[in-house]
Amino acid sequence: MRLDRLTWPEVEAYLDRADGILLPVGSTEQHGPNGPLGTDALCPEAVAAAAAERLGVLVAPTLALGVAPYHMAFPGTITLTPETFQAVMKETITSLARHGFAHVYVLNGHGGNIPFIRGVLKEMKSPRCRLHSWFAGPRVRALAKDLYGKAEGLHATPSEIALAWHVAPETRREDVAMTPERAPGGFEKEPDAFRARFPDGRIGSEAALARAEDGARLLEAAVEDVIEDYRAFTA
Ligand code: NI
Repeated sequence: MRLDRLTWPEVEAYLDRADGILLPVGSTEQHGPNGPLGTDALCPEAVAAAAAERLGVLVAPTLALGVAPYHMAFPGTITLTPETFQAVMKETITSLARHGFAHVYVLNGHGGNIPFIRGVLKEMKSPRCRLHSWFAGPRVRALAKDLYGKAEGLHATPSEIALAWHVAPETRREDVAMTPERAPGGFEKEPDAFRARFPDGRIGSEAALARAEDGARLLEAAVEDVIEDYRAFTA
C-alpha cells in the first residue's frame, strides 16, 4: 500500500493497528549507456512495493534525489549536497514520527547515500529506523554473483539495470554496444576526472549482460531479503 494513494482517515486507521513504514531512497544519476537515470530510485521503489504488499505495511513516497556529485559530468544527473539530502531525510522521518510511525525502514538504492543516511539515523533517537540497501541482502548478492560474477562491477551493474528494466520496461535498451566489454575499475570524485576515466559512466561492469528476465529473479530475491530483515527489525 502506498501512503500517497491513501486518504488521511485511511492512514489513521492503519496507525491504529500498525506502526511501520518502508521509505525508499534513491538517486537520479547516470547509469552508463544502457541504464536509466532513475535506476537507483526505481529499484528500491519496486522492491518496497512488492515487500510491503506481502508484509501488509505502508510505503512512503520515494526520495528519488540523492548525493551523486561525481556523476555531474553526465547529462541528466541531479545531485543534492549532503546537507540538503540529510535535511530532507530527517524532516521526512520526523513527519512520519509525528503521526505515530514508530518503525521506519529505509530501503536504499544508491551506495553513495549510505554514509549520509547512517549519519541521520545515528542522530535520531526516535522513531526506530533501519537502513537496508536492496543490493546488499544475502539472496541478492548470491544471485548477482551467480548471474554475473566479476562482471557485476561497481557502478551501472548488470543486476541493477536488469531490475530497472524488469520494473520499468520502457527503460529497456537491449542492444547498446559497449567498448571495452568490461569497464575499468577504480573511482574518481571530481566530475570531469570521473568522465575522463569512465567515459561511458560504467565502473568495472559489463552492463550489456543485463537481462530483464534476470530482473524478475533479482526482484524476488530482494523482496525475500527485505521481508526477513523487516521482520527481524520489528520483532
Ligand atoms: Ni546504481
